[in-house]
Amino acid sequence: MSQSFGKRTALKNAQKVTPSGSEKAESSDAATRPSVNQPVHMTRAQDAPSRQARVAATEAPQNAADYIELKKEIFGALIESINISELGLLDLQAARREVGGVVSEILSVKRAVLSSSEQAELTEEICNDVLGYGPLEPLLARDDISDIMVNGTNLIYIEVKGKVQQTNIRFRDNEQLLNICQRIVSQVGRRLDESSPICDARLPDGSRVNVIAPPLAIDGPSLTIRRFKKDKLTLNELVSFGSITPEGSEILKIIGRVRCNVLISGGTGSGKTTLLNCLTKYVDSDERIVTCEDSAELQLQQPHVVRLETRPANVEGTGQVTMRDLVKNCLRMRPERIIVGEVRGPEAFDLLQAMNTGHDGSMGTLHANTPREALSRLGAMITMGGFDLPSQTIQEMAVSSIDVIVQAARLRDGSRRITHITEVLGMEGDVPILQDIFVYKMQGEDESGRIIGQHQSTGIGRPAFWDRARYFGEENRLSRALEASTAPT
Ligand SMILES: Nc1ncnc2c1ncn2[C@@H]1O[C@H](COP(=O)(O)OP(=O)(O)O)[C@@H](O)[C@H]1O
Ligand SMILES: [Mg+2]
Repeated sequence: MSQSFGKRTALKNAQKVTPSGSEKAESSDAATRPSVNQPVHMTRAQDAPSRQARVAATEAPQNAADYIELKKEIFGALIESINISELGLLDLQAARREVGGVVSEILSVKRAVLSSSEQAELTEEICNDVLGYGPLEPLLARDDISDIMVNGTNLIYIEVKGKVQQTNIRFRDNEQLLNICQRIVSQVGRRLDESSPICDARLPDGSRVNVIAPPLAIDGPSLTIRRFKKDKLTLNELVSFGSITPEGSEILKIIGRVRCNVLISGGTGSGKTTLLNCLTKYVDSDERIVTCEDSAELQLQQPHVVRLETRPANVEGTGQVTMRDLVKNCLRMRPERIIVGEVRGPEAFDLLQAMNTGHDGSMGTLHANTPREALSRLGAMITMGGFDLPSQTIQEMAVSSIDVIVQAARLRDGSRRITHITEVLGMEGDVPILQDIFVYKMQGEDESGRIIGQHQSTGIGRPAFWDRARYFGEENRLSRALEASTAPT
């Protein structure tokens, strides 16, 4: 069996347009096929005669089915005759000209009669397939979409304003979808094939992509795209969405500034990274910050920032740089604060150590549904990382390192809320003592299903980070914000 889906797909397509047996043999002969390493122009020039021979002369398309068939044939011939990965290196205009040239050549060989507008449309669609992301292009062009989820060729969902909805976008067939997946992962130097059917990648705009192909994905290739927002939401915007009140946001600003060690906890897509990004905005501009992320999402405004990114293993399975490698290394970089995009594994230990050894104001996000669960998950990550420490010691370490846990949630109506600002005070026996200082109280829902609730402080006038706030001259601001959001009794 062929090693890679992409090449097998291209071959299949090419064989469809092969008119006779002898030429079929020629087209499947590796010697006449363009090498992946040849530059586009060379490949074209050398391949031109055999391409012409391969393409059968057919009538002009009569209807939509013919058009699709024609497009498929041209697409197959094109894939066979030009070097797609080299094409990707050209700028978009040049690549389009290149594709346009080949398409019109193929059309004239096929003696297909198309009006110039039909030909332009065909070229555009083929360009989208070859250079862009095919049927996904219109979705990628919208900036109100936060996630795109492709479950095989016929079921494509998007998330808009927190709500998941089905689209009417379709892929022509599995091959088209696989080709697009292949192009996406090739941008990070990977290939999808039988031996590696799972791949994480990134679009040029920073969006994160996960692809899982058959046979692991039973109903066809599955593609998940988390769109990257260039303009991250600000705390003021979160206030205007009702995710937090002005007073709550004031408390968060103070927490960000006065060097509390913070964990941001929440489910997938609940707004953890957004919130972390917001908090970093209030870090004083003379602090040296090192950020560690799986893919750089944070947008720090300060001048003195070093950004680090993990690296997955390459095709040979080597060269991996883990989050733990980065966090350990960053301790030798004389950081004042360490920011970890997402804590998932044993790096939890190094982050806690950093928090404990003079890098206060360090922050990270973590996947958990409540502040208490965030603490226990942190402990579990360390235990599973193989550290030979009693769980009580790990718990104590977490409790003494972390000052504040901020909980984000995506509610069932699709809205995102900051539901807790909680302090970690200490241990009582083997149970961590947590103290909520600001919470979201859900009260019900209105007739359209929107959740009604209220943010309020819990009446704690002097949180444990009061002394820090005073040190930074923020104690009055803190007490005003707490007082203003105390629920009337
Ligand atoms: N409070 C909010 N209100 C509306 N949209 C939000 C809010 N917080 C985050 N988002 C949006 O939700 C999506 C997921 O946010 P993100 O911070 O990446 O989540 P997480 O890191 O928890 O997976 C992004 O598109 C982001 O812009
Ligand atoms: Mg995130």
